[in-house]
Amino acid sequence: MEPSEARRQLLAQHDDLRARLQAARNLRDRVIAGAAFAGELAALLDELRQAYVEHNQLEEVWLEPLLRLGDAWAPQRVARMLEEHEAEHDVFESFFRGSVFEMAEGLDELADDIEAHMAAEERTILHRAVLRDSLVTDGAGG
Ligand SMILES: [Fe+2]
Ligand SMILES: [Fe+2]
Repeated sequence: MEPSEARRQLLAQHDDLRARLQAARNLRDRVIAGAAFAGELAALLDELRQAYVEHNQLEEVWLEPLLRLGDAWAPQRVARMLEEHEAEHDVFESFFRGSVFEMAEGLDELADDIEAHMAAEERTILHRAVLRDSLVTDGAGG
């Protein structure tokens, strides 16, 4: 896969994750206001978790080989990505240990964490200067 195509798809997934977070926050506000949607909120959060886990896995599968074609910072970039994904995994584990009402309360903190993770990636490993198509042609000796 071309780096630009991997980048396009992963950034589209970031947008999808942001939309899921917003939908979860909207529903959370209704639950806190007394609406009987706790089950729906739990289901939405579970879908969010699945989407996020799949996204981070795809990032590792696609980006690890592409980043390794890059400059001298490639090993640090890959190591950083893996470390951050592990930290995100821990954040999710502890978030989902809570009841749905605890999750409702902790959702803003979780959302801030995910948004910060994605924004950091967009400044680094998903930046067009890092994930550029010339990686592949340079790597092939062209
Ligand atoms: Fe990620
Ligand atoms: Fe990401």
